Amino acid sequence: MFLETKGLTKRFGGLTAVNQFDMYVNKGEIVGLIGPNGAGKTTLFNLITGFIRLTKGQIIFDGKDITGKKPHQIAGLGIVRTFQLNPLFANFTVLQNVSASFHLHPRSSLLDIYFNTKTYRRNEAYILEQSLEILGLVGLDKVKDELAKNLPHGYQKMLGIARALAVKPKLLLLDEPIAGMNPDEIDFTMAGIRKTRKQGTTIVVVEHNMQIMDLCDRVVVINFGHKIAEGLPKEVTENKEVIQAYLGSEHAA
Ligand SMILES: Nc1ncnc2c1ncn2[C@@H]1O[C@H](COP(=O)(O)OP(=O)(O)O)[C@@H](O)[C@H]1O
Ligand SMILES: [Mg+2]
Repeated sequence: MFLETKGLTKRFGGLTAVNQFDMYVNKGEIVGLIGPNGAGKTTLFNLITGFIRLTKGQIIFDGKDITGKKPHQIAGLGIVRTFQLNPLFANFTVLQNVSASFHLHPRSSLLDIYFNTKTYRRNEAYILEQSLEILGLVGLDKVKDELAKNLPHGYQKMLGIARALAVKPKLLLLDEPIAGMNPDEIDFTMAGIRKTRKQGTTIVVVEHNMQIMDLCDRVVVINFGHKIAEGLPKEVTENKEVIQAYLGSEHAA
């Protein structure tokens, strides 16, 4: 198992947002984590990435116990996430947004940059080449010189994923990558995610939108912090409790 959570629990005061949650992800899989709004999906990502402290439980990644580790330590081990509210540099181009991600882990010193040394120029050439490769992979190469703020919603979301890929994740966690998209944007995004997996990245994708299941090898369903179902997409869509959870939430909405 590549990732495993055991009895993962998070309480916010009296509310148990994630309750005794066991899930696993094998290397190379795309696992869907679906559930209605407020089910605890983002909280699970926050726990796995160390953004919030867990109340109870254990998280194992790639054979290491990562329970209680800091966000930068977990990112350093290869778990990278995107955010539901997709933070981009609005006035940077698409290409600049991706290359900026590389600069989060600088390979050149300030002196290298100031004196425009060979090391600096070699690193910049490497970053450009890698950024263009990522943009090609996710289908954003055609818009590489557009400002991020001028992109349609679907492309902006994909740019968020491209920025995460610059960090070379072993495990990529996507928070609602197709939320609010039209059908064309959904196709574009799902194609980009499929190609990303083909390149060897393991993926967990959180979604409210059940259409995401077309992409998934396995699906885990969460409702009120509990795992209520897991299995193949087809099994899960036919599960009565899952249908009930979704109908219930649609009525409440
Ligand atoms: N920092 C927080 N403090 C208090 N309650 C929170 C916090 N974050 C999330 N919650 C609550 O936990 C529950 C799960 O939220 P969340 O994980 O964001 O759901 P989802 O991503 O599935 O829509 C919700 O009831 C939400 O209001
Ligand atoms: Mg959420």
